[in-house]
Amino acid sequence: MKDKVVLIAGATSMIGTACAQLFTKHGMKVMLAGRCAHKLDNLAKTLKGRFELCVTDFCLAESVQSMIDQTISSFGRIDAVIYNVAVYPWKSIAELELVDWKETLNTNLTGAFLTTKSCSEIMRKQRGGKIVFISSSAGEIVGLPNMSAYAASKAGMNGLMRTAAIEFAPYNINVNSISPGKVYDPQTMNEEERRLKLSPVPLKRFIDPMDIAEMALFLISDKAKNITGQNFIIDGGQSILGEDAHCIWEINELNSLMMD
Ligand SMILES: NC(=O)c1ccc[n+]([C@@H]2O[C@H](COP(=O)([O-])OP(=O)(O)OC[C@H]3O[C@@H](n4cnc5c(N)ncnc54)[C@H](OP(=O)(O)O)[C@@H]3O)[C@@H](O)[C@H]2O)c1
Repeated sequence: MKDKVVLIAGATSMIGTACAQLFTKHGMKVMLAGRCAHKLDNLAKTLKGRFELCVTDFCLAESVQSMIDQTISSFGRIDAVIYNVAVYPWKSIAELELVDWKETLNTNLTGAFLTTKSCSEIMRKQRGGKIVFISSSAGEIVGLPNMSAYAASKAGMNGLMRTAAIEFAPYNINVNSISPGKVYDPQTMNEEERRLKLSPVPLKRFIDPMDIAEMALFLISDKAKNITGQNFIIDGGQSILGEDAHCIWEINELNSLMMD
């Protein structure tokens, strides 16, 4: 993976930051794009290796294109892109305003489209590339109350991913999604909060941003050359529990299962 050029869209996000740390550690050349200069500067202070920063608003086509141009002028090519950018209005459909809906679709989905369109132009000429969307189980398999715009954006993202995978296959470009379960920082919780948050998770472990970054690293590597058009759920098994199991799944029951 050394010397591969990777663009991280939304590098200042939790998962984007983990990707930045992992990819620079592997000797890749990384373009870190985010909308906030001081957050990018803070991220840069935590990294060693080859990277550049670019303030980018992923809702704006010109801003995305100028970041792509900067990547090419600095590094000469784009081997992979990870799209992390997202907003999450927490409102019921009754409360959600059209402006919230549009902002969410613009940021989460249209930004992914603009990034894919511009990057794939470069990748088609290179005859190869990898695109990874960070999606959500809300986009495919679970219903989340108060997250209608977010869920719709992520469902759209998975549809975009599958279409792009087919359209770009002749150019040796792989396109996949990763759908994380809820990523928590257990350090900020007391014992009872940890127990409650883990109660619906069969593997009884918190999802760490680095779990997602490691999967992204695999998907952009040659080891994943025959994987395209897929959505990978990383949620400790939470989404495969049936409806009844969600209601009754308690830590003691899991413990008793483990004892059997
Ligand atoms: N964390 C979870 O539990 C979880 C679960 C499932 C899926 N995901 C998905 O994983 C991805 C990363 O999640 P995260 O929790 O690591 O993200 P996060 O910490 O919430 O960060 C979201 C990022 O998007 C950036 N952003 C928002 N609007 C933007 C715009 N117009 N232009 C440029 N950047 C913009 C934010 O920048 P600012 O900081 O400057 O606002 C921030 O860096 C997201 O797509 C999310 O939907 C996360």
